[in-house]
Amino acid sequence: MKKALVCGAGGFIGGHLVNRLKSEGYWVRGVDIKENEYDNNNADEFILGDLRDPSVAADVVTSDLDEIYQLAADMGGAGFVFTGDNDASIMHNSVLCNLNILEEAKHKGVKRIFYSSSACMYPEYNQLDPDNPKCSEDSAYPAAPDSEYGWEKLFSERLYLTYQRNHGIEARIARFHNIFGPQGTWEGGREKAPAAVCRKVSMAEDGGFIEIWGDGKQTRSFLIVDECVEGIRRLMQSDFSGPVNIGSEEMISLNDFARMVIDISGKNITIKNIAGPTGVRGRNSDNRLIQEKLGWAPSTPLRVGVEKTYNWITEQIQKKVNVEEAVEV
Ligand code: NAD
Ligand code: GDD
Repeated sequence: MKKALVCGAGGFIGGHLVNRLKSEGYWVRGVDIKENEYDNNNADEFILGDLRDPSVAADVVTSDLDEIYQLAADMGGAGFVFTGDNDASIMHNSVLCNLNILEEAKHKGVKRIFYSSSACMYPEYNQLDPDNPKCSEDSAYPAAPDSEYGWEKLFSERLYLTYQRNHGIEARIARFHNIFGPQGTWEGGREKAPAAVCRKVSMAEDGGFIEIWGDGKQTRSFLIVDECVEGIRRLMQSDFSGPVNIGSEEMISLNDFARMVIDISGKNITIKNIAGPTGVRGRNSDNRLIQEKLGWAPSTPLRVGVEKTYNWITEQIQKKVNVEEAVEV
C-alpha cells in the first residue's frame, strides 16, 4: 500500500486530494494548522500542526512515505492577496512551510514531492489585455508577478527544483489557475470570485443587485476542483517535473461570470460594478504543455462546476440561517 503525506489537508484542495488518494487505496497522513471544516477529514492520520515549526515537519515527514503533496500556504482571493496588507505573512509563512518540508524530505529520503504553485507567478506585463493574456509556461521570465504571493510561488518553484537537482528528490510542480468548487472558502475575506459571486447571488433578493469589484471586464478562467485533483494525480504519476499549468481554458469576464451565476439562480438580479482589489486585467490557462506531456487537459464545462458550487454554497447559507434561528428560539 502506498503512503502519502498531504500538507494542507485541512484546506480546500488538500481535503479533496485526501479523498482521492483514499479512493485509490493509499494510506494517507494529513497535516494542517486547522481541522478541515467540511466532510473531507478522511485521512488515516491527521496531525494538527504548524509547518513553520521545523519540529512539526520532522514529525510528519517519515521515511516510510512514498509521496508528499505540499499544498499548505497562506492563501486567498483578490481581497486577501492584492490589498498588500498580508504580504509579509504570506511570504514568511508559505516559504517556511516549503523550506521545512523539503529539508525533512531530504533527510528522510522521500523520493517524490508535489508542489502547488500558482498562475499568480506569471508576469503582469503579459496579462494587461483582458482578451489576450499570455500564460504559457515558458513566459514566466523576465519575472514580474503582480503580487508578493506570486513572487513567493516563483521562488518556491525554484526551491523545489534545487532539491531535485542537488538531492535527487523528484519534484512535480503545477501552476493552478483559480480552482473552485464545493468545500472551498466561500466567506470571511479569503474567498475567490467564483465562491464570492455564488454567495452574493444566493443571498440577493429577486429583483435586487450584487456588487462586482472592478469594471467587470477583467477576465479569468476557473477550474472545478475535481479536475484539479485529476491533474495533480496525473502529473504525480508522470515522468514530467513541470512546472505546468493546471487550469481551464474557458476564459470569461467577471460580469459574464456573474450573469452565468444569476442565470443558474433563476432570479432577476442586476450587477453593480464597484471599486475593489482587481489583480491582473486578464488571465487564462494555456493547456498546450499539459496536453503534450500528459496527454490530458481539463474538459469540464465551467457551467457544470458552477451549478454544483452554487447549490453547495446555497446549502451552506441555509445551514447558517437554521443555526441562527435555533439560537434565537
Ligand atoms: P486553502 O487555504 O483551503 O488550503 C491551504 C491550507 O494550508 C489551509 O488549510 C491552511 O490552514 C494550511 N496552512 C497554511 N499555513 C500552514 C502552516 N503554517 N502549517 C500547516 N498548514 C498550513 O487553499 P487551497 O485553495 O486549498 O490551496 C491549496 C494550495 O494551492 C495552496 O498552496 C495555494 O497557494 C495553491 N493554489 C490554489 C489556488 C486556488 O485557486 N485555490 C490557485 C493557485 C494556487
Ligand atoms: N474575491 C473576489 N470577490 N473577487 C471579485 C469579487 C468578489 O466579490 N468581485 C469581483 N472580483 C474580481 C476580482 O477583483 C478579480 O479581478 C477577479 O474577480 C478574480 O478574483 P479572485 O478569484 O479573488 O482572484 P484571482 O483570480 O485574481 O487570483 C486567484 O487565483 C490565483 C490563481 O489563478 C487567487 O486565489 C490567487 O491566490 C491564486 O493564486
